[in-house]
Amino acid sequence: MCGISAYIGKNNNAAEIVFNMLSRLEYRGYDSAGIAYIKKGKPAKISVVRDKGMVEDVKEQYIPEHSDLCIGHTRWATHGEPSKINAHPHLDCKQEIAIVHNGIIENYIALKKMLEDEGHKFVSATDSEVLAHLIEKFYDNDNVLTLEDAVRQAIALLRGSYGIAVISSKEEKIVAARLGSPIIVGIGKDENEYFVSSDTNALLPYTNSTIPLNDGEIAILTKNDCKIINKDAILMQKKIEKILYNLQSAEKGEYAHYMLKEIFEQPRVINETMRGRLRIEEGIVMLGGVRMKDEEIRSISRIVFIACGTSLHAGMLGKYLIEEIARIPAEAEYASEFKYKFPVLDKNTLVIAISQSGETADTIASLREARARGANTIGIVNVVGSTIAREAEKGIYVYAGPEIGVASTKAFTAQVTALYLLSLYFGRIRNTISGFALRELVEEFARIPEKVQKILDNANAIKDIADEFYNYRDFLYLGRGYNFPVALEGALKLKEISYIHAEGYPAGEMKHGPIAMIDEGFPTMAVLIKDNVYNKIMSNVEEIKARHGRIAAITTEGDDNVKKILKKDDKVMDIPETLPIFYPFLTVVPLQLFAYFCALKLGKNVDKPRNLAKSVTVE
Ligand code: M6R
Repeated sequence: MCGISAYIGKNNNAAEIVFNMLSRLEYRGYDSAGIAYIKKGKPAKISVVRDKGMVEDVKEQYIPEHSDLCIGHTRWATHGEPSKINAHPHLDCKQEIAIVHNGIIENYIALKKMLEDEGHKFVSATDSEVLAHLIEKFYDNDNVLTLEDAVRQAIALLRGSYGIAVISSKEEKIVAARLGSPIIVGIGKDENEYFVSSDTNALLPYTNSTIPLNDGEIAILTKNDCKIINKDAILMQKKIEKILYNLQSAEKGEYAHYMLKEIFEQPRVINETMRGRLRIEEGIVMLGGVRMKDEEIRSISRIVFIACGTSLHAGMLGKYLIEEIARIPAEAEYASEFKYKFPVLDKNTLVIAISQSGETADTIASLREARARGANTIGIVNVVGSTIAREAEKGIYVYAGPEIGVASTKAFTAQVTALYLLSLYFGRIRNTISGFALRELVEEFARIPEKVQKILDNANAIKDIADEFYNYRDFLYLGRGYNFPVALEGALKLKEISYIHAEGYPAGEMKHGPIAMIDEGFPTMAVLIKDNVYNKIMSNVEEIKARHGRIAAITTEGDDNVKKILKKDDKVMDIPETLPIFYPFLTVVPLQLFAYFCALKLGKNVDKPRNLAKSVTVE
């Protein structure tokens, strides 16, 4: 949801650095982009290059100039259509202040009115522009006010969320601040250059030393100093945090797309999420980040998963797992609904927030609501040091590594791995699972990565099926039990990257409505594996065939019964056999590949689908 970057230091090519960082942030938004840099001279001036389009297109308009101070922005429009005039950076009336903003200023209409009444002239339809004019209002060098003082006074008036970077032609510094939207300061190798970014990925080519800002903090960066203050201008002592992964892990390497690379990384990701936590020989699970006394675990009366999108589908699967294995009543809620429905929570309710980025505004808001209402909280998060990781009382990092493709894939399997570990851990402590059963599950769990690899080795077979089905306008995805959330996830993957309308449904519900849509032009993707509901879904498939619907099915290797009821133009994707509860790992992978190959065939931008952004940091 917009990415911002900034540089100050000895390198005269600040604009080049900022553009490079922006292209690494483009997954957060890519409908327009821009930079502002200081052109030295008497007086110094701000130069702006901005336009509708992707970073690369906007960069073509930039004529290289020496500058050691620059801010930049890649946009996902909220207020005002994608256009040159609405692209960031935004300037004040005198063109002496430039700002970039990620977030939403909810009270911008009132602020704009006040500023217009005071004579400020606005040029864009954005909420962000008010910030440039507000800072201008407070910034007055004659009264010895510094840029940081003006920013502090301006942001005190804002309602909503922001991650910002601000420059002025009168001072050689960058002021950055955050409330609800991430801001990470990068410290250059010899400590006389500093960077600002919405995430750590963009910093990786330059440094792995960072200071993530907390809400309410302000960074003041000059060429040889980095100060962090709070809203009352009190100096904060901050620790430098190291980025734990390397540049290579955030590159797409030999793969055509990040999404494909991330799909293929899943065997490694599952292994890494398990590592040190699944003790195969002893048949036990250890979760260091969930340090809870056995008594505390036994006193949990209810678990609520809160998340959005793909992470919510992981949470829905978590509900099934926790109920079956640990026998704790569980629910999975849209984070965007949870906060506003006055949830009933108490100290025996455990709320588990699941998020790849750890920065999804709806999930953060719900987590805060849960804490305020006295629930215990755990975060299942990928990005280390993110807001949810810091604000949840306990946590499980999933170690998927940077996920750049907008369509989430490896984060899902990593989250699901964490949920199996948690369910087995709780089940053992609550005595709802015997030592013997646990050992059997742990052993099969450890074999899952190699079974996923087997599916990936056969990816071309899924491409062939996609080549036959990519031209439909609609798709029904059916699954039942553990594979119902997988059906939802498969449908989400297809619609978000190929723009084919796809609806995920619990297979048993099909006869209560969706069957009306079935005909030869409306195919069904059926998850039809050998589990306890196999015969029921077989009947659903027969019902579809009786209405001339075309089928693509995920089936268990060696299942000849399915083939008997399917026709020549129906297709199956075989997956290896496993224990019923582990099938989601194996059923989701062909669905990810199917969506990928359909989008590819349709010529869509797989890694940056239209209208989407990787991190939704606005409510
Ligand atoms: O970073 P999060 O896991 O909190 O993000 C949640 C959703 O925005 C995300 O899963 C989204 O639905 C993806 N585009 C799905 O592929």
